[in-house]
Amino acid sequence: MRDHRLPTTPAFWRSPLRGPWLTSVLGTVLLVGITVMFVTGLLSYAAYNPDLAPVNDQTPDKGLLGFYLFSWPTDPPWLYRLTQGVHVTLGIVLVPVLLAKLWSVVPKLFETPPARTLSRALERLSVLLLVGGALFVFLTGILNIQLDYLFPGDFYRLHFYGAWVFMSAFVLHVVLRAPAAVRALRRRRDRPDEPEEGDTVAPSPDPPTASRRGALWFVGGGSLLLFLTTVGRNFDSLRPTALLAPHGHAEPGDGPGGFQINKTAAEVGIRPAETRDEVWRLTLTGPAGTRRLTRAELLAMEQHTAELPIACVEGWSTSNQRWRGVRLRDLAALAGHTTGPPPDVLVESLQRGGAFRSAALRGNQVADHRSLLALAVNGAPLTADHGYPARVIVPAAPGVLNTKWVERMTFGDLSRTGRGDS
Ligand code: HEM
Repeated sequence: MRDHRLPTTPAFWRSPLRGPWLTSVLGTVLLVGITVMFVTGLLSYAAYNPDLAPVNDQTPDKGLLGFYLFSWPTDPPWLYRLTQGVHVTLGIVLVPVLLAKLWSVVPKLFETPPARTLSRALERLSVLLLVGGALFVFLTGILNIQLDYLFPGDFYRLHFYGAWVFMSAFVLHVVLRAPAAVRALRRRRDRPDEPEEGDTVAPSPDPPTASRRGALWFVGGGSLLLFLTTVGRNFDSLRPTALLAPHGHAEPGDGPGGFQINKTAAEVGIRPAETRDEVWRLTLTGPAGTRRLTRAELLAMEQHTAELPIACVEGWSTSNQRWRGVRLRDLAALAGHTTGPPPDVLVESLQRGGAFRSAALRGNQVADHRSLLALAVNGAPLTADHGYPARVIVPAAPGVLNTKWVERMTFGDLSRTGRGDS
């Protein structure tokens, strides 16, 4: 006789709530949520312009996985704010649903023997990738937005490849389990009073202390609480409600520059001496050769205003800020690109630490009349932490491409060489 004190025995699992209906409801929520997360994750990858390798993205062998890449548009200007806000908010809000789903099928994880047939063995292997992949992708994402880089290696590659492994297992799981899920949902609708059947239904359940619907309300309440303490990351006025966002780190202070930053000037090794107006120069390269411009010379060029948000890959964004500076396309013309559409540009920063010391923008981003090398924001010169003396701001681009403390801009075709070729 098998010992019912062991989790490998069905009798060990006694909750009267487990069963195919609860699993299927939770699975349906995950199906919708994770699909949206995958699509917004792929969009985030496209927004990085990884085709402009090796500058923006160094993920090796992405050729196959980057089959869908396209030029990220500049309209609507809040596009990345929306897609990445949804991606990160869902990644937090779905945690209770994912945990409840795993709880609902936990007896199956202890099933012995592990597999009786080859097909079941293969399915169990895919379940290992499904559960491991889900935990890995959610955990790396959440650690990243909390600015806790505990994991070994580069977050970007781990999350990117992890997501593909997880999604392959996820698609297989949905194909295999969708018929059972539909059956379970229909059966409960058509014959609500019939007891459920299935591997996860406890053979000798404890008396119920809550209904299945009550359990769903509990999970939904957890998700709602996470939503309410997360959504403020994306709105300046609601930021104090974002209790789960990292606090006490790189606080922007008040005044015209009082909106969120990820890294301070000091954190990335910017020395005040090198950003003084007498010392700092912008090195501009293009077909007209190389020239060095002072901040006063940039201020003497035609100044333009653009109302644009900053939207970070880590899932926070600001409302529109009023940026003022020189159009990137005017700088392209000054560099010698006077005819035809503006080319790509490689932008390099003075910063020493942190990712994205340099970033590349495509011609369509340079061409947009709202893309600026900003010298001022909200009516005052940029603060040191917002990139003084000059920073890039481009509509709909992820924050990491809006390079701060710019020292060099090289205009030319970056797609072939990874560096401006003119
Ligand atoms: C992150 C996403 C998901 C994870 C981690 C997950 C995990 C699992 C695991 C570990 C099992 C047991 C597998 C076995 O040993 O055979 C299972 C079963 C199942 N899953 Fe999922 N699942 C996920 C998404 C979904 C989705 C989207 C659906 C809806 C189509 C779904 C429906 C089911 C069904 C119907 C079962 C069978 C339950 C039973 O035998 O009573 N799952 N899931």
